[in-house]
Amino acid sequence: MKTIVYLMAAVCFLFMSVSAGYSQSAASGALIKLPEPKYDGNVSVEKALKERRSVRVYKDSPLTMAEVSQILFAAQGVTEPGRGLRTAPSARAQYFLTVYLFAGNVTGLKAGMYRYVPAGHALAVVAEGDIKGKLYKAAGQSPIQKAPAVLLIAGAEDKAAANTNWMYFEAGHAAQNVYLQGVSLGLGTVVMAGFDAEAVGKAVSMPANEKTLYIMPVGKK
Ligand SMILES: Cc1cc2nc3c(=O)[nH]c(=O)nc-3n(C[C@H](O)[C@H](O)[C@H](O)COP(=O)(O)O)c2cc1C
Repeated sequence: MKTIVYLMAAVCFLFMSVSAGYSQSAASGALIKLPEPKYDGNVSVEKALKERRSVRVYKDSPLTMAEVSQILFAAQGVTEPGRGLRTAPSARAQYFLTVYLFAGNVTGLKAGMYRYVPAGHALAVVAEGDIKGKLYKAAGQSPIQKAPAVLLIAGAEDKAAANTNWMYFEAGHAAQNVYLQGVSLGLGTVVMAGFDAEAVGKAVSMPANEKTLYIMPVGKK
């Protein structure tokens, strides 16, 4: 009798795992602490501005967790923990953005979709597997397929309802930070907005209130 109960429990567990869709080897929501970002570098702001270019072709080599950490910090890292202020400005410090990381080839990080958590500088697991492939299919731009990692900057439309421009402006600030940080690290990126945001949101199961504003593939130049 006991064996039958155990067997039924195992079958139920298997069914639930498969019906959940994505690979669930790390629980959705599990937090991965990122390495501490560096607050100094070898490239001046002036040089980074001079050299910033949209880069759509990347070396076939992995990104490190240190590079991912630095890029995410540039996009939305907390710089004043007391007030929760970040690297990019935000109208009334309301922070309309969420940055997602789609990892394909990042050393020490499973392929999958992750949400950047600015407070605590961590990644929350959204789903494991080739979600970057789904993003590429929905957005249809080849740098997404080839890049080892891709950022997606989403805006909370409900939170920004009073003035949706604010979330677009904020995305511009965050994206430019990523471009400049990329120059300093020898990484290339490009902002992309030429896609069907609704199709992209559906393909990667974004929360209903979040609109995809920018997609930024990132890779070594
Ligand atoms: C709002 C916006 C949308 C863009 N969308 C795309 C895009 O969908 N795909 C792409 O490859 N580049 C895109 N770009 C990048 C531009 O093509 C690029 O910035 C422009 O050619 C100037 O080159 P530079 O960034 O190297 O100075 C976009 C840029 C902006 C500002």
